[in-house]
Amino acid sequence: MIVGVPKETAAGERRVALVPDSVKRLVAGGVTVRVQRGAGVEAGYSDEAYGAAGAELVSDERAIWEADVVLTVQPPPAAALDRLREGAVLIGMLQPLTNRELVSELARRKVTSFALEALPRITRAQPMDALSSQSTVAGYKAVLLAAAALPKFFPMLVTAAGTLTPAKVLVLGAGVAGLQAIATARRLGAVVQAFDVRPAVKEQVESLGAQFLAVDTAGLEAEGAGGYAKELSEEQHRRELELLAQHVPQVDVVISTALIPGRPAPLLITEEMVQSMKMGSVIVDLAAEAGGNCQLTKAGSEIVAHGVRIIGPVNLASTMPFHASQMYSRNISSFLLHLLKDGKVHLDFEDEITAGTCITHAGEVVHAGAKSLVTARS
Ligand code: NAI
Repeated sequence: MIVGVPKETAAGERRVALVPDSVKRLVAGGVTVRVQRGAGVEAGYSDEAYGAAGAELVSDERAIWEADVVLTVQPPPAAALDRLREGAVLIGMLQPLTNRELVSELARRKVTSFALEALPRITRAQPMDALSSQSTVAGYKAVLLAAAALPKFFPMLVTAAGTLTPAKVLVLGAGVAGLQAIATARRLGAVVQAFDVRPAVKEQVESLGAQFLAVDTAGLEAEGAGGYAKELSEEQHRRELELLAQHVPQVDVVISTALIPGRPAPLLITEEMVQSMKMGSVIVDLAAEAGGNCQLTKAGSEIVAHGVRIIGPVNLASTMPFHASQMYSRNISSFLLHLLKDGKVHLDFEDEITAGTCITHAGEVVHAGAKSLVTARS
């Protein structure tokens, strides 16, 4: 069985799906790993390192897309779809809830596709959880961007030139990215507060040395299936905005990470709140791609409004491609090994991980969310 790893071609994408360490692991599992020359270069992994790990290096990308299994970071480019063989397996971050054309094409071509975003978040699947690993990178990098943009120190400094007070950071959404942002801001010496609609995270926030802001939840049941947040009612959202309006003017930095799967990001920072912030303050909106938590965010841009710098980064994980790829590679190879039996793909749709992650199989769209996207009228 041949596993192909292409060089990613999406704009700005520097990660690679498999790093040499995982190649070794898969080769030991009895498969042939074929890597496109230069696939890992932007992430810091040379062709020589892949060769030494036992990969077969090829220059012609067609040989990659024609493999039995293709591993990617981003959805494949349209031109590559022609190369995928009927019955081939494709695994990657395929954006199945928004990428209607791709989902239909994969079904039409009878490709068995797996989107790692759809992986069930159960304990057994943790080593395969790419959303978590890439959010870890994003949360960390968001704080570095904020620290670089803030015209102040993060830590308190006692110097001969006077005592400087520490920066105050507010983290909105204490999921994987938010918790990493809290930890990173604390390491840099900032005073950190955090807010989330899921009360279950209070303890985690406090164990990282941050203060948890509590909202009067009015019977709020914000935790839905799989530990994810649910959309708030109008009244709950109003209370949340009231709470934030009190705290936002006090802080130097807001890192916002609040997301609700399959929905636009909740609006947490209104233009009025931006206006209430101190001059030179910074907002890093990690929800930019999903519409933003801040009303003024522009995805992929950095703007200054009312004296506040608002950064709306996209694909932050790709800006730290070495470690982002290392973690992603561990995720995707664990998933592939989960599918293999005696060195061959063995699909067991009774298994929660295999069934939950599968998007298309044998000409059908099998994932419920992707199916409603494909069948919805445009
Ligand atoms: P996410 O990226 O979907 O959302 C980020 C955060 O935003 C969440 O903590 C959510 O509660 C929060 N949020 C949503 N709406 C909000 C609002 N209106 N105001 C404030 N905050 C809001 O979530 P992520 O980071 O992907 O994971 C969420 C949780 O899922 C984790 O904290 C964990 O409990 C669970 N999880 C479980 C795993 C496992 O058991 N294998 C693996 C990863 C996550």
